[in-house]
Amino acid sequence: MKSQWEENAELFAELIANSGTPHHREILNPSVERLMGSVKGKHILDAGCGEGYLSRYYTSKGAIVTGVDFSEKMITIAREKAGDDSTSFQVGNLCNLKDLSDSSFDIILCNLVLLNVSCLKESITEFNRLLNTGGVLLLSMVHPAFNFYGPGSWKMGEKHPETRRREGLFFKIDNYTVEMKYERFWRTRDGERFPQPITFYHRTISTYITQLLEAGFKIEAMEEPIPDTKNEFFDRERRIPFFLVVKASKI
Ligand SMILES: C[S@@+](CC[C@H](N)C(=O)[O-])C[C@H]1O[C@@H](n2cnc3c(N)ncnc32)[C@H](O)[C@@H]1O
Repeated sequence: MKSQWEENAELFAELIANSGTPHHREILNPSVERLMGSVKGKHILDAGCGEGYLSRYYTSKGAIVTGVDFSEKMITIAREKAGDDSTSFQVGNLCNLKDLSDSSFDIILCNLVLLNVSCLKESITEFNRLLNTGGVLLLSMVHPAFNFYGPGSWKMGEKHPETRRREGLFFKIDNYTVEMKYERFWRTRDGERFPQPITFYHRTISTYITQLLEAGFKIEAMEEPIPDTKNEFFDRERRIPFFLVVKASKI
């Protein structure tokens, strides 16, 4: 799985383009920002940082940020993009973050990563170990119930004449309760297929929440953000939430 991200790293970084896709910018990033609260002077771990746009952003807001990812290529790109040492980027696997000390972070941000992680229980246990008491874990994911790579998909209509996006007639879901591993190829904005497929894990929302509670977290907030914009382009995402964001704190 690591090799998938190594080989996809350059196209992934191009897709993210320093602030994410329109879905990130219009839907997810505002929710993450809201739930992160004040970050000035806080020690933040960006767990599964990818090309590091959130690490760079929170460093610019005055936080002391460590970005960690198991892909060496992603970490190289993240360091190049940062251009200086103001953010610390390290290679590390969320299943066992042995190089990081107990109780060394105030906030752990895990943005769109757990869907790709095989070791959910171990990662959440590691997050708990690394946080100070009262520290915050912010998890975001493509909504497990409505992930059209997983149990659901839109029944599509005609292309909208202005947005050039197909109308969503209705959303159909099946086998939400069946947890499974699957692979998909991503595409660039120009439709080019990524060189490697990406492995995903479909898990129910209750699995995520149960793991958090068992590891010693308290759930503080949950959001299913919808786009702030009235733009017709996001008609589908206003009707069915694309993302789920969970804020938990270490008891
Ligand atoms: C969808 S990307 C998200 C990257 C970044 N958080 C963002 O929002 O742009 C998932 C990232 O998780 C990393 N990843 C997946 N499994 C991992 C693991 N077990 N340990 C560390 N990183 C992992 C991948 O290399 C990839 O960079």
